[in-house]
Amino acid sequence: MNIIDGNKIAKDIIEDLKNEVGQLPNGRPTVAFIRVGEDPASISYVRKKQKTAEAIGIHAELTVLPESISQEELFAVIETYNKNDAVNGILIQAPLPKHIDETATFNQVDPRKDVDGFHTLNIGKLCQEDASGFVACTPAGIVELIKRSQIETEGKHVVVLGRSQIVGKPATLLMVRKGTPGNATVTVCHSRTQNLADITRQADILIAAIGKAHFVTKEMVKPGASIIDVGINRIPDATKKSGTRLVGDVDFDAVSPLCEHITPVPGGVGPMTVAMLMQNTLKAFKAMNS
Ligand code: GUN
Repeated sequence: MNIIDGNKIAKDIIEDLKNEVGQLPNGRPTVAFIRVGEDPASISYVRKKQKTAEAIGIHAELTVLPESISQEELFAVIETYNKNDAVNGILIQAPLPKHIDETATFNQVDPRKDVDGFHTLNIGKLCQEDASGFVACTPAGIVELIKRSQIETEGKHVVVLGRSQIVGKPATLLMVRKGTPGNATVTVCHSRTQNLADITRQADILIAAIGKAHFVTKEMVKPGASIIDVGINRIPDATKKSGTRLVGDVDFDAVSPLCEHITPVPGGVGPMTVAMLMQNTLKAFKAMNS
């Protein structure tokens, strides 16, 4: 059993990006973050992204908007960044307040600056296997973990648990596309899937992205399978100072002895998401300055 070290892999990627950014002949990339409201998880994620950007030499700007902001006002802020030639990447931290249409907001970002890969145009490019687009950071991170852990995907059965816009759907497209990693046979399972365990037990690679703590039990896994756990769930834990701890969608202690490879939570997919955002920002900068 190999526990995939997402922290180490992300650190290697960040180191490479730092070297590359340091050698750019024509200035530094800039990424603009927009946060709406004071959600503690969003504050922490954006802070982490800012710190990583700065460590690489990517300039990071942050606009914090009140929870009460109207959609029109938010769109006006995005438009300012769209028009600003010095800004290469724009990221609007989700979740957004209920009165704001999230998809419409993501589509407001200039697709050339859509480092989150959430714009309809970039999702279309992923579908068409057009490498000029941006791939959403979490699925891109999953692919990178699979690649760097030398997990074979060609002809293998990948089962994706979850059909979200941010993870399940793009991960499915990436696994099925022609390429390496890719060329897999992919099954997508979701809340309406019947006989779920019968399907997950067929998986050579299981990507769990449903957001339910310890949902994947050992009865659902084929011995020798590789598991990518995308879940970030907070559960009560009296032994911790905070009273809680983070766990994935997989019952790690029970399942990991069965696996060929498995990602831990924390320290698996999470750090890769941030590294991929930085990679996308550099890609946007290069495309705008070539
Ligand atoms: N909220 C949770 N994941 C993400 C992400 O990848 N990007 C953004 N913008 N918001 C998120």
